[in-house]
Amino acid sequence: MVPLTLLPTLLALAATAVAQNTTTPLRYMPFGDSITEIICWRALLWDKLQATEWKDVNFVGSGKTENNCGNSKYDRDNEGHSGYLAINIANQNQLDGWLVKNPADVVTMHLGTNDIVQQNKPVADIIAAFTKLVGTMRAKNSKVKIVVAQIIPMGTGSFNTKIQDLNKQIPTWAAGLNKTESPIWIVDQYTGFSSSDLRDGVHPNASGDKKMVEKWFPALLTAFAAAKADQGVKAKVVGEVERRFVA
Ligand SMILES: *[C@@H]1O[C@H](CO)[C@@H](O)[C@H](O)[C@H]1NC(C)=O
Ligand SMILES: *[C@@H]1O[C@H](CO)[C@@H](O)[C@H](O)[C@H]1NC(C)=O
Ligand SMILES: *[C@@H]1O[C@H](CO)[C@@H](O)[C@H](O)[C@H]1NC(C)=O
Repeated sequence: MVPLTLLPTLLALAATAVAQNTTTPLRYMPFGDSITEIICWRALLWDKLQATEWKDVNFVGSGKTENNCGNSKYDRDNEGHSGYLAINIANQNQLDGWLVKNPADVVTMHLGTNDIVQQNKPVADIIAAFTKLVGTMRAKNSKVKIVVAQIIPMGTGSFNTKIQDLNKQIPTWAAGLNKTESPIWIVDQYTGFSSSDLRDGVHPNASGDKKMVEKWFPALLTAFAAAKADQGVKAKVVGEVERRFVA
């Protein structure tokens, strides 16, 4: 039998434990086309996160395909869909279902390549699709943190003129949609990336994967910190409720 005088102390300790355990691993969705799916930058990113406070971040998504990265440890889950257009994903409301299955606190989006390379879609239509996709992310999680890429160049053809047109519009577009509780950060994956960073004219090879990680990484550290801060608010509230109950 616990002496009554000890009871408040024990309850207070229980309250502390509850408050600490409301912090669950963050969920990160790598979202895009084959440049998110059949590549190895996700493996390199996971490895790089192991030396940080974000080593428990849970990569989420419906697929596990990659490019034979030779890394058996990393979390392969991703929402990269080879050959997909941003415009089609938006028009067919596909992201909606993907996020229902795999909710995310942080999303990276590298999209638009297939819209340009396969179907020569107008940049304005790609941007409109991006707007819808961001709306979907926020409808599923009003506090989602979003990192959008200015996409990598292609190795051949005249695609890069249009890719640069798209990339040029992304910062203004993102600034217009920015929200304090759901920020959008832009990552420039184009600058410094060359055709010798591509294995087949389209997808990064080892050198390209490394360059992409170096670009994603600082933006993701910022995004994870912002997502974690949201959990901090939640933990504090739970702690206060428990303390009030104890008092
Ligand atoms: C809190 O989580 C840690 C680590 O996941 C676990 O070891 C501990 O038992 C949990 N505490 C409570 C009170 O659930
Ligand atoms: C959005 O706001 C955040 C601050 O919350 C800022 O760091 C970021 O650069 C902004 N994004 C754009 C595209 O302006
Ligand atoms: C990447 O591929 C290109 C050819 O597409 C090649 O020139 C380059 O050496 C490759 N680099 C690495 C690190 O694999």
